[in-house]
Amino acid sequence: MKQEYFNMINRRQFLQTGVKVSVSAFLTTVGAVKLFGSSDNNVYDKANTPIKYVTLNNGVKMPIIGFGTLTLTGEKGAASISDALSLGYRLIDTATIYNNEDAVGEGIRLSGVSRDKLFVTSKVWVDDSGYENTKKAFETSLNKMGLDYLDLYLIHRPRGDIKGTWKAMEELYRNGRIRAIGVSNFEPDQLKELNDFANIKPAVNQIEAHAFFHQPEALSYLSDNNIQMEAWSPFAQGRNNHFVNETLANIGKKYNKTNAQVSLRWHYQRGVVTIPRTSKVSHMKENLNIFDFALDKSDMDAISQLDINTTQFPEWE
Ligand SMILES: NC(=O)c1ccc[n+]([C@@H]2O[C@H](COP(=O)([O-])OP(=O)(O)OC[C@H]3O[C@@H](n4cnc5c(N)ncnc54)[C@H](OP(=O)(O)O)[C@@H]3O)[C@@H](O)[C@H]2O)c1
Repeated sequence: MKQEYFNMINRRQFLQTGVKVSVSAFLTTVGAVKLFGSSDNNVYDKANTPIKYVTLNNGVKMPIIGFGTLTLTGEKGAASISDALSLGYRLIDTATIYNNEDAVGEGIRLSGVSRDKLFVTSKVWVDDSGYENTKKAFETSLNKMGLDYLDLYLIHRPRGDIKGTWKAMEELYRNGRIRAIGVSNFEPDQLKELNDFANIKPAVNQIEAHAFFHQPEALSYLSDNNIQMEAWSPFAQGRNNHFVNETLANIGKKYNKTNAQVSLRWHYQRGVVTIPRTSKVSHMKENLNIFDFALDKSDMDAISQLDINTTQFPEWE
């Protein structure tokens, strides 16, 4: 499935030549703790883990850290999703093309966490673009998950009949079937085009971002336009030696944190939602345990130096 997914993607690389703009510096200084860390936004789950939330442009609250599910399929996948929810994750990210919406539904049921506490995201794939196809694809996704609404539905890639797809998503949103609608892998100019005909502005853009690909221009555009940035592959799937990177490790030593935690904390302090994926319970716990320390300016500056401003997934282009 994964290979098929890779082959199907004809993705334009984001911001290859971008100049690093002041948003990184601004967010470094201000810090997401101040932006998002008011106690009003914290909810304590049964594991007593503070889950922090961002508020989307339509008022809906979205957990700032969630659980990615690419490759988590079948019974094993369902068990991982259930484990993650039991440990306190509340955001689950799936997509039609991951071929695991059934496992996501099963994981939710196994966990026993009530639906109203969850934030479930899925995505319409390029083959289902257009008004009628999107409406059908949405119902198929919900049926597979055994749910009757989604918290967030995204256009997976800027391909096909975007106008028709968006019209269907707006209709589903107005009818209360989706709490927020958005896009994934859209560049700023593609978002501008969408906004020209959209009646409802996208709430989220989910894009590749990690220590080696910071996307400062996208972050700046999204924050100026009140669209929440969400990072996929927040660890670059471990590529470029992410988990043994020396800069991240040296920062981690100061706070007794791992490279994964330093990365997730960095995303958080930039105000970016992340959806790390793991099949290991120890990593699930580790990845959620990022709210008891803060990176200082020198840490953020050191991570800035890691940006090579290029995708780690050239095969998806
Ligand atoms: N919109 C899009 O186009 C798009 C594209 C790609 C991904 N996504 C979404 O983003 C999610 C996350 O991205 P991703 O799955 O590509 O990659 P990722 O989250 O960057 O990395 C996943 C890898 O990191 C390892 N890992 C996780 N936590 C760890 C830790 N604490 N220490 C060491 N290793 C750790 C996992 O291995 P273990 O299982 O061994 O822990 C796994 O191999 C996806 O699952 C999917 O939901 C969206």
